[in-house]
Amino acid sequence: MLVKPTNNVSSNGTHLVEDSTAAQELPADLSEPPKRWRNGTATLRVALLVNLARNAPPTHHNAPSDILAELDADKNVEAYAAAMRAHHHEVLIQEGNARLAEWLEKVQPDICFNTCEGFGGESREAQVPALLEMLGLPYSGPGPLAAALTHDKPTTQRVLYCYGLPVPPFQQFNSPNDLLNPNLHFPLFVKPAHEGTGMGIRNDSIVRDERRLREQVAYIIKAYRQPAMVEAYVEGKDITCGLVGNGNDVHFFPITEVDFSGYPADLEPIYGVQQKVDYADYYRNKCPAPLGEQLTNEIRRLTHQVFLVTGCRDFARVDFRLTDDGQPYVLEINGLPGITPVSDLTLMAEAEGWTHGDLVRAVLDAALKRYGFSR
Ligand SMILES: Nc1ncnc2c1ncn2[C@@H]1O[C@H](COP(=O)(O)OP(=O)(O)OP(=O)(O)O)[C@@H](O)[C@H]1O
Ligand SMILES: [Mg+2]
Repeated sequence: MLVKPTNNVSSNGTHLVEDSTAAQELPADLSEPPKRWRNGTATLRVALLVNLARNAPPTHHNAPSDILAELDADKNVEAYAAAMRAHHHEVLIQEGNARLAEWLEKVQPDICFNTCEGFGGESREAQVPALLEMLGLPYSGPGPLAAALTHDKPTTQRVLYCYGLPVPPFQQFNSPNDLLNPNLHFPLFVKPAHEGTGMGIRNDSIVRDERRLREQVAYIIKAYRQPAMVEAYVEGKDITCGLVGNGNDVHFFPITEVDFSGYPADLEPIYGVQQKVDYADYYRNKCPAPLGEQLTNEIRRLTHQVFLVTGCRDFARVDFRLTDDGQPYVLEINGLPGITPVSDLTLMAEAEGWTHGDLVRAVLDAALKRYGFSR
């Protein structure tokens, strides 16, 4: 049973929160297999947690057109559910919003399949994992720490840099007037500090002088209400590497290289929101990317390192730029990568003969195995 803390207001007006810990049940013992398996049936009750664009709260005045690009659509949710139902799991779908705790208490799932990007806030991807952790429920994907970390590009790059992993030189701008680090040389690349799906990434992201840099930083801070991430612009190939699993027990999918030749000629060769969303039908790729064995292994090694040091779980996708002389730079790790029927991760899984359903189930199975629930 969940116990809500009671808010009291003292005589001097300060808020007192009653300590309700004594009344709270401890989180479920996660070393125990789910009840339904213990009862001898093979099916699980899976809570499929989603954030649909159609349920998004109203956006702020003058919000950019791509502000909802990270949120999901019904047809994708149906595909995740179908994949798990095909393996005889009972799947109950719920919006990951402020009423989630109440719903979970009623439904009592064995495990949650979390796809929630969050509707807003600087650590929006960490909100549902934090709630699930508090409730002691098993769930797929990153925990709150890894979700918050990997959602924030400057903080992630600081961590990767500390581990000696190759990241482009970068600087976080909290204001358009911040002093420019003299070690950063043009061209530079400007993007929101914590977004995904190429949001805020367009031709204008490449800046070639200080005037344009400050304009673009000012735009990102105002439109997306967050700091701007400024990186050295890495000329080269766009490479992405995905995996499922945990620890050293991981499966790498074939590495993908984005082929920019299908997009309109006036678009720069960057994988921004126009390429990902507006011109999604023009997408072409090379999968497996023709990198040769040595470079393929190196990209996989780096992907695995990034996955481990950021504390991601069950699946992830690491994006790179690869220079013409073969130097990879980590751009980011997607701790909760898109897993729709047309997401990059799905396409790379399909390139080696998996179906979308196989991928969804592999993520669920990785989570179940991590909790020790293997059959
Ligand atoms: N420093 C850089 N140098 C060159 N290109 C870059 C750089 N940073 C980003 N890009 C381009 O922008 C694209 C998107 O960048 P990034 O992966 O950081 O954004 P995202 O919105 O988080 O993406 P995702 O859809 O994977 O969540 C990259 O694939 C690359 O084409
Ligand atoms: Mg990316």
